[in-house]
Amino acid sequence: MVKRKFREPLEDRKGNLLFDGFSVKELAEKYDTPLYVLSEKRIRDNYNRLHSMLINNYKHVRVYYAVKANTNLTVLRILQSEGAYLDTVSPGEVFMGLSSGYTPEKILFTGTSVRNDELRFLVGTNITVNVDSQSELDRLLKIAVPPVVSVRVNPEVGAGHHSHCITAGPDSKFGLMEEDAVKAYATAKKARVERFGIHMHIGSGILEVEPYVLAVEKLLSIAKRVHEQVGVEFEFIDIGGGLGVPYNPEDKDLDLAEFSSKIVVPFKSKVKEYGLGKPFLCVEPGRYLVCDASILLTSVNTVKVTSTKKFVGVDAGFNTLVRPTMYGSYHPILVANKVAQADKETYDVVGPICESGDALAKDRQLPKVEEGDLLAVLNAGAYGFSMSSQYNSRPRAAEVMIRQGKDVLVRKREELSDLMTSQRMQSGS
Ligand code: LLP
Repeated sequence: MVKRKFREPLEDRKGNLLFDGFSVKELAEKYDTPLYVLSEKRIRDNYNRLHSMLINNYKHVRVYYAVKANTNLTVLRILQSEGAYLDTVSPGEVFMGLSSGYTPEKILFTGTSVRNDELRFLVGTNITVNVDSQSELDRLLKIAVPPVVSVRVNPEVGAGHHSHCITAGPDSKFGLMEEDAVKAYATAKKARVERFGIHMHIGSGILEVEPYVLAVEKLLSIAKRVHEQVGVEFEFIDIGGGLGVPYNPEDKDLDLAEFSSKIVVPFKSKVKEYGLGKPFLCVEPGRYLVCDASILLTSVNTVKVTSTKKFVGVDAGFNTLVRPTMYGSYHPILVANKVAQADKETYDVVGPICESGDALAKDRQLPKVEEGDLLAVLNAGAYGFSMSSQYNSRPRAAEVMIRQGKDVLVRKREELSDLMTSQRMQSGS
């Protein structure tokens, strides 16, 4: 018998895993696997913890939820009810934001490599566009002069859990460097844009505060220069998302007290010192709000022992959760029906996809696993379902949410017929 340390909303009830008070075994029996299970309460708690830290230090705060982390409409609605704004990166995300009830003023679009028809769509919706290049700004101004323009700057400091997820610094495709940013504001001002914002997003999965400290300093110094040289008053200053969540056992939580003392408090005084008025301080968390609010349940189909390895074959592969394959990311895994048993064996946990990279975990210590066991892959709420695919012609998983004491289906499992919906089958001859 082992006593594992669990974080909310996980619990051990006599060796069986509970998620937000619900037996995951019963959920898997009711809805089948692979299954994403979400906790409404945890999403709200995550939002409120972050929002309170910010608002306690600076009165004008906006939390933009980065939709790409989890696009479930119920998640969007829950965050809307908490007062969240939305960070979007595609017309599709804007469409989903508007469809789930966000007003255009609450939606910011930060795209890259944006098409003209997309810009026309965005202008038509009245959301705020945060431009990523001079070309995008010029093309936007040809369509219409929007009431608000924001520029994504590259503060020359990037960070992130993987090179794919570092989105600032000398080699980054994102944002404008200082000189170019100043020019972009001058262009917008000349075109009679009246309201302005400034933005950065340095990367994703950042557990230390230091990179933000440096990047925010740079962002504010650029804002000061633009204010002084171009005469721009900033309605908002957006420091982006990227706030990390611990995945590995040795990872520590992002220290919110440190975030407030080293970022929010200096932000307030610098804004005053630089004469920047009272702009909103905006953050754009995706992962921080939803990551630990969801687990992925997957059933064990096969246990295969070779001369060198022990494989646990499950029904979720990189079609269901791509992060381990794509970034080598570590996700904690529990044998949900054996949480009180000690880790005894070392397994590769592999999926049903016909590629050798299809592993949720390699060399993972687990209790002895048998066919029919149920695994829970933790921290699956961010970039889990949203990056899933139909690869190998496998319909996508279902999503269930624990809310108000009930388990509610918030996305039905795809069926075989869904694999063919967009195809236009022509004759074979
Ligand atoms: N704002 C912008 C402009 C972004 O591009 C992103 C994420 C965010 C905010 C939210 O970042 P977050 O707070 O979630 O770290 N698929 C990767 C993460 C890619 C993030 C891309 N941009 C992963 O699974 O780790």
